[in-house]
Amino acid sequence: MQFDTWTKALAELPVDCVAVGVQDDGELTPEAKALDQRCGEKLSRLVKRGDFTGKAGETWLVTDVAGLSAERVLLVGLGAKPSSPGVTRKAWRRSVTAAISSATRTRVTSLALALPRPAAKTLSDERLGRAVAELTGHTLYRVNDLKTGKKPRAHALTRVVVAAQAKGAQATAKGFAQGAALANGAALMRNLANLPGNVCTPTYLGKTAEGLARTHKSLKVKVLGLAEIKREKMGCFLAVTQGSEEPPRFIVIEHKPARAQGKNNGAPVVLVGKGITFDTGGISLKDPPTMDEMKFDMSGAACVIGTMNAVADLNLPIHVVGLVAACENMPDGRAIKPGDIVTSAHGLTVEILNTDAEGRLILCDALNYARRFKPDVVIDMATLTGAIVVALGVHHTGVFSNSDALARELVDCGLAADDRAWHMPLTEEYGEQLKSNFADMANVAGRDGGSITAAAFLGKFTQGLTWAHLDIAGTAYQGGGAKGSTGRPSAMLLEYLLRRATAR
Ligand code: BES
Ligand code: MN
Ligand code: ZN
Repeated sequence: MQFDTWTKALAELPVDCVAVGVQDDGELTPEAKALDQRCGEKLSRLVKRGDFTGKAGETWLVTDVAGLSAERVLLVGLGAKPSSPGVTRKAWRRSVTAAISSATRTRVTSLALALPRPAAKTLSDERLGRAVAELTGHTLYRVNDLKTGKKPRAHALTRVVVAAQAKGAQATAKGFAQGAALANGAALMRNLANLPGNVCTPTYLGKTAEGLARTHKSLKVKVLGLAEIKREKMGCFLAVTQGSEEPPRFIVIEHKPARAQGKNNGAPVVLVGKGITFDTGGISLKDPPTMDEMKFDMSGAACVIGTMNAVADLNLPIHVVGLVAACENMPDGRAIKPGDIVTSAHGLTVEILNTDAEGRLILCDALNYARRFKPDVVIDMATLTGAIVVALGVHHTGVFSNSDALARELVDCGLAADDRAWHMPLTEEYGEQLKSNFADMANVAGRDGGSITAAAFLGKFTQGLTWAHLDIAGTAYQGGGAKGSTGRPSAMLLEYLLRRATAR
């Protein structure tokens, strides 16, 4: 996909189609009015007749338009007129998505977006460019399904053009590159997460990571197998994988530019992902309804892999390391049992009271591995608890951290990138609830505050590190009719990394 800016008159744009906005009171935006005058008021007549009402997200393709370079005009409904000038970012994102989606159902190859944009202070040129490329990628994404019927026709769109002011063109173009990298990374995440557990195994994740190193010079990839994981004494990770026939993998992806910039002499950001390629719950077996969705329990890992791909695509001048602990959680004759006690790589012993609280077991050993990179910041992401979905629903990722400043920064990045997150508490009391009579700690602490006690468990392994944990159980994928990976929180993470890449 090619992204461009255009600074001259809209009517002269050499594209197949121009998308303009219409309010639900029938008012045309200034861009729409300008085109309307050039084409003999074809657009306003259509709206007056009541064929197109301007409802938010609705579109109408007007063909054979005379008087313009473009042969088609796409009317995009904007809904109610905003009370203050400038549309909201949400309404803008919706209109862009509607325009792209509608264009893909036609033979339009090049589309110009002349939709009203939010005020510059809420969306800079760079972020606008990024969001256009991100939304285009997101809207064009097709799940790589295993249906045998005739494939739907591929879309024809190859070029998206955004009207820009001359002085904003460069920043917008920079944003396009960021957005394209983000869209690529998010698509990689979604492809991996959408694959079934019998295809996307730990071995498959390892092979995918190795593939990234072949296509990106800046990436170094190392994949540890069972023997090496044993050598690392990752007793908690080994406990989870021991009931599975699929061999585990521990994946290390390193992006190290020759001259890494940033704080602490290029001390890295380490990203850690939960890679349970299927979570049955183990001996503490889950209920059958929606158990299939536990193929998404490697979404954190998929996001780390996708984000490393984006970091390498952009060749960010910062040192970033991605770590993935990948295995299955299965019930078996050799599987761990409730009450079993194991020793983590850190040295702390854990009484496994519930084998379904496996994510924290693999993550604690991965977080410990992160120490060898002397990281500036460690961020883990995991579909860790059902309790975070009870607490926040599916709209916000839960952020937990031993640094309020880091948590606030991540929440702010989520806001800036339209990939929202919410700062959850993480005080000592929660950690005290993990007491065990037989080991240093238990892996569960009852129902109350379940997402927080899970984070507190991880917190016992991250002392001395500046660390944040993202619980993405509610945000990384959708269930029901729209079942599938969302690509979240790739946008929030890339925003965070881009900020570090430009900070001096
Ligand atoms: N992968 C699940 C968490 C999960 C649940 C993700 C629902 C997405 C949707 C995790 O391994 C798990 O099973 N957590 C348990 C923890 C409990 C046993 C303390 C949970 O949330 O029920
Ligand atoms: Mn589980
Ligand atoms: Zn799980």
